[in-house]
Amino acid sequence: MAILDGKLVAEKIQLQVGLEVERLKAENGIVPGLAVIMAGDDPASRSYVNSKSKLAEKLGIRSELVTFPASVPAAEIARVIDEKNADPFTHAILVQMPLPAGVDPWGIIERIAPGKDVDAFHPYNQGLILQNRGRVFPCTPLGIMRLLDHYGIDPEGMNAAVVGRSFLVGKPMAAMLANRNATVTLCHSRTHGLAAILREAGLVVAAVGKPGFISADMVKPGAVLIDVGINHVTKEDDFNKFCPRSNYEAFKKKGAVITGDVHYQSFAKAAHYSPVPGGVGPLTVTMLMSNTVELCKRQAGIA
Ligand code: GUN
Repeated sequence: MAILDGKLVAEKIQLQVGLEVERLKAENGIVPGLAVIMAGDDPASRSYVNSKSKLAEKLGIRSELVTFPASVPAAEIARVIDEKNADPFTHAILVQMPLPAGVDPWGIIERIAPGKDVDAFHPYNQGLILQNRGRVFPCTPLGIMRLLDHYGIDPEGMNAAVVGRSFLVGKPMAAMLANRNATVTLCHSRTHGLAAILREAGLVVAAVGKPGFISADMVKPGAVLIDVGINHVTKEDDFNKFCPRSNYEAFKKKGAVITGDVHYQSFAKAAHYSPVPGGVGPLTVTMLMSNTVELCKRQAGIA
């Protein structure tokens, strides 16, 4: 069971993106610009947004954060999106999800110019992915593809099970794996016989948001396990169920640990697995930077 080291792959990609940013500045006088829009004060979203701003700065990308209270009217968010759509110094626009309950996310997502849609959440960009003509890809599934590629894991011909059907991860992931010639089963909370499906899967992508959901008995020996889950375990009971004893000291010290959707006892059966933390997470934010540079180059007409 070999670890798929997302941190290592993320650092490698960051190096490439940083060089690309330098080249754009030196040869074209262009600084890639990312606008991040956040509404409400969800602590997890705030932490993601902060890590995005920090990495942008590290790589020389100009990033701007626009924040709104949870009570913001949708029209106000739309007004800022219109402004950024028209701004030649903004090449990429991200609206942090989830939006407050009163705001229709689709109305907001559809407002983003598809050419500046750094998350590839717009129906136009998701449609292109389904047609295997994708130009920009959602950051988490794109990071997973880069992780598999780095370790020479070719999805072609594999039985791949994706657990979770969100438009952020599961659905685009399923399409991207199918585009790479995997045989894909898109599973979710209402799938009948999930364990039997997973036991046939050489590749499992778990994006359900439930700690330890993929138990060892569901895993085919020699499978590749990709864990997208970021679950905060705060109760001792849950710790005992979902986390290895070796993390106990950290749990007691901090009062919480992060664990994935794949139960740690599953790893022993896998050929490769991505850990949480240190697996998919570092890649997601890195691919956001890579997408920003990609969109910038496209807008500037640079191949
Ligand atoms: N919320 C959780 N993940 C993401 C993401 O990748 N992009 C955006 N915009 N919001 C998110």
